[in-house]
Amino acid sequence: MSRKILVTNALPYANGDIHLGHLVGYIQGDIWVRYQRMRGSTVHYVCADDTHGTPIMLRAEKEGITPETLIGRVHGEHLRDFTDFGVAFDNYHSTHSPENRAYAEEVYKRLTAAKLIETRSIEQFYDPVKEMFLPDRFIKGECPKCAAADQYGDNCEVCGAAYAPTELKNPYSAVSGAKPVLKTSEHFFFRLSDPRAVAFLREWTRGTNAAGTRRLQAEAANKMKEWLGEDGQEGENTLSDWDISRDAPYFGFEIPGAPGKYFYVWLDAPIGYLASFRNLADKRGDIVVDDFVDAARAEAAGTEMVHFIGKDILYFHALFWPAMLQFAGLRTPSQLCVNGFLTVDGAKMSKSRGTFITARSYVTQGLNPEWLRYYFATKSNGTMEDVDLNLDDLIAKVNSDLVGKYVNIASRCAGFITKRFDGKLAASDAAATAAFKAAHEAGTIAQAYEERDYSRALREIMHLADLANQYVNDRKPWELAKQEGREADLHVVCSTALTLFRDLTLYLKPVLPALAAKVETFLAIAPLGWQGEWQPLQAGHVVNIYAHLMTRVERKQIDALLEANRDSLAPAPAAAAADAKAATSQQRHAEKQQHAAQTAETASPHISIDDFTKVDLRIAKIVAAEHVEGADKLIRLQLDIGEDKPRQVFAGIKSAYDPASLVGRMTVMVANLAPRKMKFGLSEGMVLAASDPDGKTGGLYVLSPDAGATAGMRVK
Ligand code: 2FM
Ligand code: ZN
Repeated sequence: MSRKILVTNALPYANGDIHLGHLVGYIQGDIWVRYQRMRGSTVHYVCADDTHGTPIMLRAEKEGITPETLIGRVHGEHLRDFTDFGVAFDNYHSTHSPENRAYAEEVYKRLTAAKLIETRSIEQFYDPVKEMFLPDRFIKGECPKCAAADQYGDNCEVCGAAYAPTELKNPYSAVSGAKPVLKTSEHFFFRLSDPRAVAFLREWTRGTNAAGTRRLQAEAANKMKEWLGEDGQEGENTLSDWDISRDAPYFGFEIPGAPGKYFYVWLDAPIGYLASFRNLADKRGDIVVDDFVDAARAEAAGTEMVHFIGKDILYFHALFWPAMLQFAGLRTPSQLCVNGFLTVDGAKMSKSRGTFITARSYVTQGLNPEWLRYYFATKSNGTMEDVDLNLDDLIAKVNSDLVGKYVNIASRCAGFITKRFDGKLAASDAAATAAFKAAHEAGTIAQAYEERDYSRALREIMHLADLANQYVNDRKPWELAKQEGREADLHVVCSTALTLFRDLTLYLKPVLPALAAKVETFLAIAPLGWQGEWQPLQAGHVVNIYAHLMTRVERKQIDALLEANRDSLAPAPAAAAADAKAATSQQRHAEKQQHAAQTAETASPHISIDDFTKVDLRIAKIVAAEHVEGADKLIRLQLDIGEDKPRQVFAGIKSAYDPASLVGRMTVMVANLAPRKMKFGLSEGMVLAASDPDGKTGGLYVLSPDAGATAGMRVK
């Protein structure tokens, strides 16, 4: 039976580059979609940029552009990256779209009608300078447990403690540096604690879909049990209501009838799946959207909706999203396909090691995206386990499996067909193709693809490639070619090998679509599909001249890739990540995961506003300046920054300034640089000066503020 499936991948945030960590889930989704289509199913595969929220608003502000301009630019970049890696969405839309606004408003209206929305006043940290409420991730301070400085408002990266932002000591806004104040505001909540929601989710997360497949992988279902508890169990495991509104200023959709209140980004993000689909349908004209979206219609039409997501956003997709859909009368997801995180050479991706690899750099360094597709597929087994990209293993697998085994079959036989037989094939060796077919039938390649156990599928395919190579090795066409009177044998052996090669190509096609397309051209055959019986290539069929199909990976290419991604200024990876289990409420847990994902290290050469605000820049008055005996570059400065006594700073500006000319001047200093013991005394900061790019002696210019700035003012 031909299935009708709407497939989605998680919507990436529109404020960062696509990196190899993202690509795990996108490649897994794309392989599944291609496989389903080869089986004859109708699949609509959609995605979009996730464009709303505070980080995107602030990033645009930092770049001096509107959020619309930022998300427009990033949309193009993301789409290009996905396309380069063969991830072929039918539509790549945006959550900042009229379709999404319409769906978000409709869902909200229906949830309100179902009495599942309520308002409540909550107290939150507010930045009085920036005049905005601060998400946890934008509040920093000292950890209440271990006193580590500069920790985020939700958890400590040093000791792993989780806490509320109000527990931080000496909190400050990571946006402006100001001390936040507590302020009350009215928020909208989706009442997940309602018994209807809890009962529905307990049933939904444990159940199977219409096709009899479990909606959640075993590990995901267990996680849900932890979050939802068993029937009749009260207290800890009762779901908290979900705060779905944010106050202006916010980049998002204003809530109808509630000026200054916006839908929280996570409310309209998954709705973006439907919006992208609606936009596709409007462009195409032959898709009946409601057959996939409306609960009753979808059931009658037997359509499915399958989401590919990373494990960090399971909470949103297994609780909030199905509950929203259910109580808005929309269809709920048929299945969640959850993937683990990516590690590189056994460790978290790291900028300092160069393993935080962007999709763009991979392509511009000239590496073949299908190497990575193949490698990720060999490591994907349909579970939530993390995937390790071992770079030496990638080289070995691609070179031995794809180049050494698979391509080798064609490259050893194709030349003879062209040179000796004008490209024309003979009938294949029936015994050999029958044996190959039997070996295939004994296996479970199709089932493995269906279950997203690509690792198993590829093991079986490589076993078949071994059989095909064995056939060629046994018949030795290169020797037959030299023997008088063996022309016909040579013809059959090479033709048979190409039939087996065609079959292997078909099995590999979901993983290696570009390579398969080249093979289809070479063999002069119609696009390979995966339905029913297929026949050996026929006698008399003419193939094209063989062109090289895939090159080997060289270690030096990988080294160049790491070098291109290495950021020598990046800090060493954090020693301890917070333990997710430490969170005391599911909601904080989920928000923490989101914020962590949203502010995760990206490969951008920019620093974040957080990084910048770490530097405490102050207006300083130079109250004394003198030569330092025995130092040929330094001047000793005494700087007043409004503290009890002036700070002593040794500045390397002797070549350009007479100390006397400096006294009384205002300048800018870094006030929170760790004090440094020098031969001549303690240096308690640093004065800012511009210098010649070529560093010529004398080309030094100490900074001065405009008139009016006074000692101790903060510089931002
Ligand atoms: O975690 C993330 O990157 C989110 N932008 C994923 C959103 S998926 C869906 F809900 F839109
Ligand atoms: Zn701590």
